[in-house]
Amino acid sequence: MQTTSPRIGSLQLDNPIFLAPMAGITSLPYRRIMKHFGAALVFTEMVSANGLIRDGRKTRELLISCKEEMPLGIQLFGDDPQILAEATRMIADECTLLDINMGCPVKKVIRSGAGSALLKDPQRIGRIIAQVRAAYSGPLTIKIRSGWDTDRVNFLDIGRIAEAEGADAVTLHPRTRVVKPSAAQRTGHRSAS
Ligand SMILES: Cc1cc2nc3c(=O)[nH]c(=O)nc-3n(C[C@H](O)[C@H](O)[C@H](O)COP(=O)(O)O)c2cc1C
Repeated sequence: MQTTSPRIGSLQLDNPIFLAPMAGITSLPYRRIMKHFGAALVFTEMVSANGLIRDGRKTRELLISCKEEMPLGIQLFGDDPQILAEATRMIADECTLLDINMGCPVKKVIRSGAGSALLKDPQRIGRIIAQVRAAYSGPLTIKIRSGWDTDRVNFLDIGRIAEAEGADAVTLHPRTRVVKPSAAQRTGHRSAS
């Protein structure tokens, strides 16, 4: 079977199979198993930029790695361009690729202005990418959703901003954060099957 070998920035990958970042799942042992079964690129779960700059022990533990799992994508989350850039400088030597989470739907994360809350503020996304890009010369990606809700599907705009500010690729999770009920669902109407 013929497979493509994608390139992200300066990173040439063996195949197009990537392990998605998953909180509570993509631990070092899990990543190594996926690597063993052929994933070309594995990701940590999302790691708090605030936690890193506060030197949180639990946050640091999420970054425990080994050379067998390389290339490794580290995913950071946060809302403040400066803090994200500072956290990036702290971990720059530990990752092959840096990804920024802009799609997490968890309420606690959204309340802090991070994750998918960023989809409502594309200008902030631009500032984040610009500052992180200035702090990190390796492959840089963002992971987004299609938009905040079905009235604000803005992944194309965000993609253009990401490209202009120096991101090397965008991962799209093609769902909005908020799924509004359809008119039929709102009125309780059920179509005959
Ligand atoms: C348990 C779990 C944890 C996740 N954690 C993260 C995460 O830390 N960072 C991230 O970008 N996406 C995370 N995701 C989303 C996945 O990376 C992926 O985009 C998503 O699961 C694929 O779409 P679907 O599950 O809606 O079909 C998580 C998903 C699951 C199921």
